[in-house]
Amino acid sequence: MVPRFPETTIVNLDKLTYAGNLQSLRTIESAPNYTFVHGDICDLDLIQRLFAQYNFTTVVHFAAESHVDRSIHAPIDFVKSNVEGTVSLLQAARAAWSNSDQRQCRFLHVSTDEVFGALGASGKFTIDTHYAPRSPYAASKAAADHFVRAYATTYDLPVVISNCSNNYGPYQFPEKLIPLAIVRALEMAPIPVYSRGENVRDWLHVEDHCEALALMLRQGLNGETYLVGGSGECSNLGLLRLLLTIVDEELDRPAGTSLSLITFVKDRPGHDFRYAIDASKLITELGWEPNHTLAAGLRTTVKWYLANRPWLKAVMDETYRTYLQTQYSV
Ligand code: TYD
Repeated sequence: MVPRFPETTIVNLDKLTYAGNLQSLRTIESAPNYTFVHGDICDLDLIQRLFAQYNFTTVVHFAAESHVDRSIHAPIDFVKSNVEGTVSLLQAARAAWSNSDQRQCRFLHVSTDEVFGALGASGKFTIDTHYAPRSPYAASKAAADHFVRAYATTYDLPVVISNCSNNYGPYQFPEKLIPLAIVRALEMAPIPVYSRGENVRDWLHVEDHCEALALMLRQGLNGETYLVGGSGECSNLGLLRLLLTIVDEELDRPAGTSLSLITFVKDRPGHDFRYAIDASKLITELGWEPNHTLAAGLRTTVKWYLANRPWLKAVMDETYRTYLQTQYSV
């Protein structure tokens, strides 16, 4: 694999909990400018040692517990990783950068649109939308965002915050709706849809998200927040119709085979009705534009999952299968 930023040394710190897997990193593991470290962002000693060893000038903070359903069952895990983990990274960056030229440094905090709560049938989240998180997951990310801003104000830490909409694409752990539906369709198993499938999400292809983050790193202004969304608004049922039609086409199945697996189940408690992002600041100030339409992005995603069944098998071990069964009872 040819490294995208050959002049940059990249150290990837990951705890490899249930959704992390070294198999997802195979294509970059032998790149000369890449190192993997197995560790926990809450381990401040470790983070400080890594700062001392590598002299980081940039932190891109992706690490988080991110699944709303899990946060409903185990909120404290979310406080630990998302809040304490974020503060530990901030603390280490602050200590390491206090005597250096902070203009050369950057802490990019990757957050979510869920911190803004739920929208009704119209309107979009903008950078002026007030925080109103409603799930334990969203509350933990909101708390983390507040800490990042507090470090910027109190200690002049050079931060940029990104709040993005629902991501999809290759390598996504099959607890999220799109890969979950592909896996269940492959197994001819029921596909659980909460309530009547009317909730709306704004789907963003992961590569478009990463391009946006790369722009923020290079051109974003210190202390700024950018919202990233793919203009891919769709109800869950509408999305599954599109997705499962593609699955049937790619598998040469009679039309409607996978759609017939949709099973309406009890709604998620506090289920946010709609998310939609106004990404105009990112578009006008940093020149970002998404390259994937939802239809084309879903097709490449389905093809990826069908071509990578060994990866799927590896990440979906028995523990996960048991979790799915108890979670959805379908
Ligand atoms: P999800 O992928 O969990 O992302 P988020 O909750 O962060 O938006 O869910 C996307 C939407 O799909 C959300 O409205 C919940 C719904 N959903 C289902 O209907 N069934 C499922 O099994 C899952 C996982 C999600």
